[in-house]
Amino acid sequence: MTTESERFHSYLPREGHGLPHDPFNAIVGPRPIGWISTRSGAGVLNLAPYSFFNAFNYTPPIIGFASIGRKDTLVNIEETGEFVWNLATRPLAEAMNQSCAMVPPEVNEFDLAGLATLASHKVQPPRVADSPVTMECRCTQIIQLQGVDGEAVATWLVLGEVLAVHIDRSLLKDGVYDTAAAQPILRGGGPADYFAIDEAQRFRMFRPR
Ligand SMILES: Cc1cc2nc3c(=O)[nH]c(=O)nc-3n(C[C@H](O)[C@H](O)[C@H](O)COP(=O)(O)O)c2cc1C
Repeated sequence: MTTESERFHSYLPREGHGLPHDPFNAIVGPRPIGWISTRSGAGVLNLAPYSFFNAFNYTPPIIGFASIGRKDTLVNIEETGEFVWNLATRPLAEAMNQSCAMVPPEVNEFDLAGLATLASHKVQPPRVADSPVTMECRCTQIIQLQGVDGEAVATWLVLGEVLAVHIDRSLLKDGVYDTAAAQPILRGGGPADYFAIDEAQRFRMFRPR
């Protein structure tokens, strides 16, 4: 009989994980990537990836991401109230990675990553022209996170309503969006792990009636 402590490595995050690498974001993963374009109040374009990202509501569609620290994307959204989500795909992986470089706010990451822009319809920040799916959003809430002790954490959850969606028609098979065909990339843990998805990983399970 194995004991519980033989079976599990248990830890209290506030006291450390006791492992060579923090396993948290390898466990909660792979995560979709919020590749977010914004424009500063002064008109400088910005593009950066956020993997603490997800969808939170269907109607109206609401997506959000967490800025760990006050990053340019957060500041731009505070100033303008607008952002665009761009699907990060396998062919765009290296460009996505380049767009996370720690550069001053006056540097436009579209130029840095060699990416062309495509004008949005409902908001000022442009889309990544080569991204096959984009969502134009207006910010609905910015929530500063807090711990169980009520202490404010230097992380801001940015939520936005999706006002417009653009899907490359090649991804619509008989009108149904084909997730795998888009070749989305997802973030795992550690300094460098990503996952790709393809059709082989799909399985179907219907809800019980
Ligand atoms: C795949 C990936 C995911 C990331 N996820 C986050 C995240 O969820 N939150 C965050 O604050 N930074 C995240 N980062 C780091 C930011 O992209 C990085 O700090 C970037 O310089 C911020 O850009 P900005 O200041 O132009 O907004 C991530 C980086 C990569 C490559």
